[in-house]
Amino acid sequence: MKLGVNIDHIATLRNARGENFPSPVHAAFVVLEAGASNVTCHLREDRRHIRDEDVKVISKLTERLNLEMSAEEKIVEIAIDIMPRSVTIVPEKRKELTTEGGLDVAADIKRYKNITEAFKFKSFDSLTSAFIEPDKKQADAAKEAGFDFIEIHTGRYAGETTAAGKTKELSRIKEAVEYALKIGLKVNAGHGLDYKNIYDIALIYGFEEFNIGFSIVSKAVFTGLEAAVKEMLGIIKAAELAKFQCRKK
Ligand code: PXP
Repeated sequence: MKLGVNIDHIATLRNARGENFPSPVHAAFVVLEAGASNVTCHLREDRRHIRDEDVKVISKLTERLNLEMSAEEKIVEIAIDIMPRSVTIVPEKRKELTTEGGLDVAADIKRYKNITEAFKFKSFDSLTSAFIEPDKKQADAAKEAGFDFIEIHTGRYAGETTAAGKTKELSRIKEAVEYALKIGLKVNAGHGLDYKNIYDIALIYGFEEFNIGFSIVSKAVFTGLEAAVKEMLGIIKAAELAKFQCRKK
């Protein structure tokens, strides 16, 4: 299981003072050096954190960029021009603080199929992912639309405050992962994951990568970015080891 680190909030901090630091480009290299497999940026329609120039520079300097974006035409054009190795299509509302809920792929499969085909047309190696709720109907739609991956929205799990609620969400996620793998999709997860709730999610079999941003950047304020990434990787590895030992028994 791999870790993708979302560095949007490095740009939030930079933009707060209109300076050119802290630099998201520098952050991208720190997280990759610390062991992350991917660096993720979300190019929002209002450019409130990451900007076009950040994405252009990062994608020129590393192949390991996952670009989160809406399906809006202008943003898709920019992404096809930049051509990061992977793109994750997310729903986007102007006033939301962060991405709320998963993409409704089932509502317009044709629209998403056009997008996945446009990326494949430009580069057959490009990877496309749909950020969806743990839901079989959405997984089927993502498969039909030609996505390589789904990223399961873990926001509801992260927001559960009771043990019973968490257990229920974990089993919903587990079922969705199993189903997605069965129909030939690869599966990532992200949103609201932190140092406390990642372990139980990482115990589920079948995930390729976790995309985590806010909790890592928040911790980095006190520990530094490299240490914050390494600590998260340590927890993911501990869960992997626990699964491995369980399989051996
Ligand atoms: N994955 C996706 C698709 C997202 O939209 C976000 C938030 O930008 C994340 C992961 C990271 O979420 P968080 O910042 O809560 O870790």
